[in-house]
Amino acid sequence: MLPNFVLIGFMGCGKSSVGRRLSSLTGHRFVDSDELVVKAEGRSIPEIFASCGEEGFREIEQRVLADLVGVAGMVLSSGGGAILREANREVLKKIGIVVWLDSDPNILFDRAIRSGKRPLLQTPNPRETFDQLLSARRAIYESAADFRFDSTHVNQDEAARKVLEQAMRIQSQRP
Ligand code: S3P
Repeated sequence: MLPNFVLIGFMGCGKSSVGRRLSSLTGHRFVDSDELVVKAEGRSIPEIFASCGEEGFREIEQRVLADLVGVAGMVLSSGGGAILREANREVLKKIGIVVWLDSDPNILFDRAIRSGKRPLLQTPNPRETFDQLLSARRAIYESAADFRFDSTHVNQDEAARKVLEQAMRIQSQRP
């Protein structure tokens, strides 16, 4: 049976778009942890940040991720900061093969800023905030992932195919 696939990575790395393609390739259900948070709370992510702050958001995020342990047949796209909590890193590993989707920082920034809805980038100098967050998180993504996939030079269909190939190689080497 195919394992679950868990996508981690910075805002704008393509977790949702690559994840949806991976879901078509595998027949697995696509699950987005941000969407689960929104559904659980009945409010948007910016609204949750505004009323409960980042820590309040992280509590809800941790709960929805923990609820996914034991669910099979899933491609999970996790929020960019989910890996900040050690409990979540352990949960993500339990859920499936963890793939760090990475890309050139300029590409990440353009995509991350485009939606205009990411609360962490609503600062006087979003590029500076972005650079600080990314450099603080890179080592954490690295430690949380089974492998890193750099999608800078590939389109999203190709990224999904290659991620699947690499994940299956890893799965076949597991005891
Ligand atoms: C966050 C990333 C967002 C969302 C929230 C916090 C982060 O998810 O969970 O705004 O800390 O990087 P995406 O990575 O899907 O944008």
